[in-house]
Amino acid sequence: MSKHTAGAETRGAVREAGSGRSERVSLTAARRGGPAGDTGRFAPVIDLRSDTLTRPTEAMRAAMAGAEVGDDVYGEDPTVTALQEQVAGLFGHEAALFTPTGSMANVLAVASVVQPGEEVLCESSAHIARAELGAHGAISGITMRTWTGERGRVDLAAIEGLHAPDMGPFFVRTAAVSVENTHNFAGGTVVGIDDLRDLRAWADTTGTRVHLDGARLWNAHVATGTPLADYGRIADVLAVCLSKGLGAPVGSLMVGSADAIDQARVRRKRMGGGMRQVGILAAAGAYALEHHVERLADDHAHARLLGEALGLDPADVDTNIVVVDRPDAVSFVTRAAEEGVRIAAVGPRAVRLVTHLDVSRADAERAAVALSRLVAR
Ligand SMILES: Cc1ncc(COP(=O)(O)O)c(C=O)c1O
Repeated sequence: MSKHTAGAETRGAVREAGSGRSERVSLTAARRGGPAGDTGRFAPVIDLRSDTLTRPTEAMRAAMAGAEVGDDVYGEDPTVTALQEQVAGLFGHEAALFTPTGSMANVLAVASVVQPGEEVLCESSAHIARAELGAHGAISGITMRTWTGERGRVDLAAIEGLHAPDMGPFFVRTAAVSVENTHNFAGGTVVGIDDLRDLRAWADTTGTRVHLDGARLWNAHVATGTPLADYGRIADVLAVCLSKGLGAPVGSLMVGSADAIDQARVRRKRMGGGMRQVGILAAAGAYALEHHVERLADDHAHARLLGEALGLDPADVDTNIVVVDRPDAVSFVTRAAEEGVRIAAVGPRAVRLVTHLDVSRADAERAAVALSRLVAR
């Protein structure tokens, strides 16, 4: 099967699975003994495709509605300014910039430490390499080379082997190393702070900059207890998302030096990302930071339950993402959907499940029962 065919089938399977948390499993599925068959009633679909699928809670919506706003392109939105200052402070950096997406925060952040014609090194399944649609090359003129780390981890020996110092007109210069924590496609794995400190020490000796894609750094923080400022210390520049496990509808931030943020503000506007009364969205992020960080521990417990149902050692599930090898990934996704559980194929041989704010303990338990039944068949 060509990779294009596999991709199309994957998308088809995902589409077939339905479109939202209020959706009901079909009567056919119920008659086959799915969740509705178990209860005698239609049961809501449990959507584990991603932690981006959450809907804002009533309290978050109230915070958004009450937000004080101004024109942020003029730097006059007090809610955005407060959020940027808060997040910069959490990581011990000088400044931060609110962006619509994590991808834009990553593009701006990497471009702040890598010039056109230079390279960034990253892990081979990193989001910046695999899922940002070539933005770093297409928009920033940056090239990438990759190492493959066990469970997405930092491999300093491999990085040292790849690193290219400035050799004038001969080789592309390595300007930065990018690390992702937690690592999405590796299965929500935590990159250990000791490995990150070793990377920082090596980067200092070679004049290499460090970018941290921290879309789910909150999950790493809650799973390990490592203070956010410790993660901030190992990175020159970071990107963090409020719209994943934290449950905000939109919003990410680039975090770095005041100079880097000033330049990124210009680039963001050039990319069409200058936003006006965007405090309405920043308010959702501020609410999420206050109310939805500690509860990530629940998502992690739910993910361990699901990992166990799929035959993993729960100790191998670090946070809220479970990636399992399944040679039948596409049909497994379809069969899970028939059981009322939406999951995603992240390749022809791998499925991914992600727990989040809209998945309760009861949902996780019901999904675990359905999935273990499928695995046993
Ligand atoms: C690790 C990681 N980085 C960056 C992003 C990009 O975030 P967005 O979808 O907001 O562009 C994602 C999205 O899932 C991600 O998983």
